[in-house]
Amino acid sequence: MQIAMISFLKWISRLVFGSYIWSKLEFSITDALRYIMGIAGPNGFGSNSTAEQVTEGISPSHLTAIITGATSGIGAETARVLAKRGVRLVMPARDLKKAGEVKKRIKRESPGAEITVMEMDLSSFASIQNFCSNFLSLGLPLNILINNAGKLCRSFQLTEDKFEMTFATNYLGHYLLTKLLLGKMVETATKTGVHGRIINVTSVIHRWVAKEGFKFDDMLLPKSYNGTRAYALSKLANIMHAKEMARQLKERNANVTINSVHPGIVKTGIIRDHRGLITDGFDK
Ligand SMILES: NC(=O)c1ccc[n+]([C@@H]2O[C@H](COP(=O)([O-])OP(=O)(O)OC[C@H]3O[C@@H](n4cnc5c(N)ncnc54)[C@H](OP(=O)(O)O)[C@@H]3O)[C@@H](O)[C@H]2O)c1
Repeated sequence: MQIAMISFLKWISRLVFGSYIWSKLEFSITDALRYIMGIAGPNGFGSNSTAEQVTEGISPSHLTAIITGATSGIGAETARVLAKRGVRLVMPARDLKKAGEVKKRIKRESPGAEITVMEMDLSSFASIQNFCSNFLSLGLPLNILINNAGKLCRSFQLTEDKFEMTFATNYLGHYLLTKLLLGKMVETATKTGVHGRIINVTSVIHRWVAKEGFKFDDMLLPKSYNGTRAYALSKLANIMHAKEMARQLKERNANVTINSVHPGIVKTGIIRDHRGLITDGFDK
């Protein structure tokens, strides 16, 4: 029934838009429909699948993961389920109290969970450097890095390093974090033979960036600030980061891969703060 509905909508769209425009739209329309209807992909999971369902039967208890933005939303749920499956978690957070509460909640559900909360503000290069040196001094292995934290500023703000806040938090911060932790990830993968994974959480909104999108002067001194544009730029940069780093990791034959992922549309803090952003009407 769902497949028939998609075919019907494809046929209507082809008539309405013509085949040239259709060829440009086909990918996104099919994806959007699959998403809205919760149709499972080739791996058997779709937008209605939960993290618990996806990880059922897997017990990765020998792994250590760092996840940014685990104090709320998608990051908090990812942390909860990874901890439930036995992964040792390191949660860098700018708000230690909030992170402590998430840790307590996870421990109530999974008393054996091993969780370390450490301070890090992704909008500050100094804070990221400080976190990385503190983490590395613990001597822990590192198998998984989930670059998940995200921000969408309504108004123009500069970080202490004088970069636009949304771009700095979502992209520059995660770029630096990954760069500083990559050696540990490659070392862990080499020593253990366990494939290391880096995940950049991005968004389909990256498609909104026009060809001439990256104008760095304009980002630092915009004539008129558009928060959604800054967010889209940061998310495109997350993808470009993953693509280039994937190439480099392959070239050096490292047993570590990097991928970027759009998590779907979920009513989390980032969405609740920005009603109207293609999100109203979705409630996953
Ligand atoms: N929700 C969606 O529909 C959707 C769609 C596409 C992509 N995404 C992406 O999914 C990721 C997770 O977002 P979410 O939806 O779960 O939003 P969320 O509930 O607002 O969570 C954002 C997380 O990022 C953290 N964060 C923000 N600025 C930070 C900073 N300077 N330093 C450290 N941590 C910081 C927040 O920490 P605090 O608690 O300290 O604020 C929070 O833990 C983001 O990358 C977002 O772009 C979400």
